[in-house]
Amino acid sequence: MNLERCDSRSKLKGVIVLLKIRRIGNGKSHLNVIGVGSGAGDIDLEMLSELHQKHPGVTVDNEVVEPSSQQLHNYRVSVSQKKDLDYITFTWNKMTASEFEEHWKEKKMTKKADFIHMIQMLYYVKDPAATISFFQSLLDKNGKLLIILVSGESGWGKLWRTYRHQLCNPDISQCVTTEDIKNILDSKGVRYQNYELPSQMDITECFTEGDEKGELLLDFLTEVLNFSKTASPELKAGVLKLLRHPECSVESNGKVIFNNNLGVIVIEQLT
Ligand SMILES: C[S@@+](CC[C@H](N)C(=O)[O-])C[C@H]1O[C@@H](n2cnc3c(N)ncnc32)[C@H](O)[C@@H]1O
Repeated sequence: MNLERCDSRSKLKGVIVLLKIRRIGNGKSHLNVIGVGSGAGDIDLEMLSELHQKHPGVTVDNEVVEPSSQQLHNYRVSVSQKKDLDYITFTWNKMTASEFEEHWKEKKMTKKADFIHMIQMLYYVKDPAATISFFQSLLDKNGKLLIILVSGESGWGKLWRTYRHQLCNPDISQCVTTEDIKNILDSKGVRYQNYELPSQMDITECFTEGDEKGELLLDFLTEVLNFSKTASPELKAGVLKLLRHPECSVESNGKVIFNNNLGVIVIEQLT
């Protein structure tokens, strides 16, 4: 299911994200970038290509932080197949964000970053607030930290606010939305910009008992394997009812369309 999240949601509006990074690195001849939870690197490479088009003479040092060997391998294969990436030096860190923090501190690294991104990954860290705080501390003046997660106003937000205890396994996912991240930043007085990326998902099949695709979709939405077969009748009925709630989905022409909006947060280091 994590992979689906990597493959489907993030790519939806990559281009819009690129527009938001246009002001990165103005005036510099070298940029330090850190991708945290980069997956197979598709979006990273798109963003780097956008940066290159905007600043053709600039060299880039790109730290990739990714714990999955398979994803890291796919990223490296992608890089080896692409031409014209000579302007980038890749450093491959097969580790989690917190292992990277330890490694960075152990090595007493002083390098500062111009652009750090965490796209659809903060669900998987134990302490999102601490993770943001550490990476924010690595930003150079005018550096930017980009966070993308499902929006608090999406169907996911409503689903998780209602069924967090029944559905979310904190050993796997924290079920955080950009609303949670905004609350953390507000409580610390951290300033940020925030955007919504509209996205929809047709979940009509979920409501046809025994439909194979519908059951897989339900597993994806609840992050519970075989949800249809393992959940109590009350929980299953409650979740199905909630998925049709106007705060989760709209119904039109016989289709149930789930609000899959993403939220984008950009923290800029002003000093
Ligand atoms: C949903 S995918 C997103 C991948 C990519 N950023 C994208 O948007 O296409 C989440 C990625 O975070 C990675 N990940 C999981 N736990 C992590 C952790 N504790 N620290 C860093 N990355 C993690 C996963 O291996 C996976 O590649």
